[in-house]
Amino acid sequence: ILDLGSGSGRDCYMLSKLVGEKGQVTGIDMTEEQVEVSRKYIDYHTEKFGYRQPNVAFIVGYIEDLQAAGLHDGSFDVIISNCVINLSPDKTAVLREAYRVLKDGGEMYFSDMYIDRPLPPELKKNKVLWGEGIGGALLWKDLVQIAEEIGFSAPRLVTARYITVNNELESMVGDYRLISATYRLFRLPQDAVKERGLATYNGGIPGCEGEMPFDANVTFKVHEQRFIQVFSISSNKLLLDIYWCGYKHGEVKRMVQEDKRRGDYSSQEGQWL
Ligand SMILES: C[S@@+](CC[C@H](N)C(=O)[O-])C[C@H]1O[C@@H](n2cnc3c(N)ncnc32)[C@H](O)[C@@H]1O
Repeated sequence: ILDLGSGSGRDCYMLSKLVGEKGQVTGIDMTEEQVEVSRKYIDYHTEKFGYRQPNVAFIVGYIEDLQAAGLHDGSFDVIISNCVINLSPDKTAVLREAYRVLKDGGEMYFSDMYIDRPLPPELKKNKVLWGEGIGGALLWKDLVQIAEEIGFSAPRLVTARYITVNNELESMVGDYRLISATYRLFRLPQDAVKERGLATYNGGIPGCEGEMPFDANVTFKVHEQRFIQVFSISSNKLLLDIYWCGYKHGEVKRMVQEDKRRGDYSSQEGQWL
């Protein structure tokens, strides 16, 4: 797992426990002081989690240029980020680099600040607003556009809430609405063909025994079939954009011609995901 803008390293240490001793977590941050702080707690956590060797590393670097930081193509299963991309002047570069270092089937799961309409240039450039992540907050539609240009699957919204700002900022921001949102973006194999299929979650993911929340609108209940857009990567391999857990914990069936003829699913058109 890679954490973009790992700050003091808090999320990396939580992930260190989640992935277990054989997993690996890398945090990258441009601020050397932050990286120094995060490195201080490696030994503490290694011992606390009972690992023989640390499974966390922190590196100094820019999230717009992961290549320069020595991160190779297709080397991560998951990328996370919390409240960092809004601080970047080049969101497209960040997402392009994230896409490059993800494996096929990998996921970018990130939380960031969004704004309901573009700020005028003088506010965008304001140092206080930029430092608070407001000046650089993305528009929803820009995220969708950039993700599509780069090749990610359509962003899946997981959570969203309005953000209130303090009095000083309020006078500058006026009636612009700010939202904190978490999205999932998937890197699907490039030769994947979109189809329709039936997905069944078989359970088995620790903590999601009865159901698996997928995004803000969709939760897979164990053994319940759901109509979903699937991706065909060969004549006998189908996957959801929940690819990484699909094989082990669920099944995806292509919606075959006879099913269409029977008309069983025609009334379900509105439920395709
Ligand atoms: C608001 S803090 C969030 C830290 C951490 N993700 C958390 O949730 O606690 C933003 C962090 O992103 C880092 N950062 C901002 N822009 C960056 C960039 N372009 N490349 C790398 N790190 C960046 C900052 O140094 C800072 O540590």
